[in-house]
Amino acid sequence: MKLVKKKASEAIEKEKQLAALAAVSYIQNGQVIGLGSGSTANYAIREIGKLVQNGFQLKAIPTSKKTQLLAESFHIPIIDSNSIDHIDITIDGADEFNDDMVLIKGGGGALFREKIVASMTRKQIIIADSSKLVRHLGLEFKLPIEVIPFASNYVMNRLHILGGTSIIRQKGGKAFVTDLGNWILDVDLGHIRDPLSLSRSLDEIVGVVCHGLFIDLADIIIMGKGETTEAFL
Ligand code: 5RP
Repeated sequence: MKLVKKKASEAIEKEKQLAALAAVSYIQNGQVIGLGSGSTANYAIREIGKLVQNGFQLKAIPTSKKTQLLAESFHIPIIDSNSIDHIDITIDGADEFNDDMVLIKGGGGALFREKIVASMTRKQIIIADSSKLVRHLGLEFKLPIEVIPFASNYVMNRLHILGGTSIIRQKGGKAFVTDLGNWILDVDLGHIRDPLSLSRSLDEIVGVVCHGLFIDLADIIIMGKGETTEAFL
């Protein structure tokens, strides 16, 4: 049983790597690159590090402190997001996506910066292993919602009216705190049938900083599948 699980997780890692490699091939010398967060994005960051080592002049904007540290360890030059008016390519992961290229993100808690970076980006490439493609969004993965701690109870009550059951994400027995000092609610809303309407309702709740539904923000999704990759456009 253990061996079967190990093989499955090796296969998933292989798919993440293949997707990351395919995404990095889009990068051209001189570009500004958005660096996503999470284990799949980390594979891409390693490859981008190799490009820099081989003489590519790139500038990067990380979506989290962890990503920044990893990028710096590969000598990828980091710039301030306020020093440019757009990002050429961003490579980021996802927790779930469907055929309509709607994503759920925020498993790592970096959703707010990820959404800002995606919004500033001309070509947003999402990379994922094949387990992330789902028929029904929200059933397996709860929707992360970043909230101002002061408003968390109020937001949870509002989410309850929308049919959502929320838990405050924990780390080490305390509320998990995002890079921007906020909390994350992991919200069970069942099958998310109408992401756009839900997204609008969530955006109207005072105290919600950002939610993990990414709609019309992915230009390409590259999914590793076995020994190869599939692209969604
Ligand atoms: C972090 C994210 C990540 O992109 C998402 O959680 C996917 O992570 P992984 O590649 O480790 O599965 O949204 O906020």
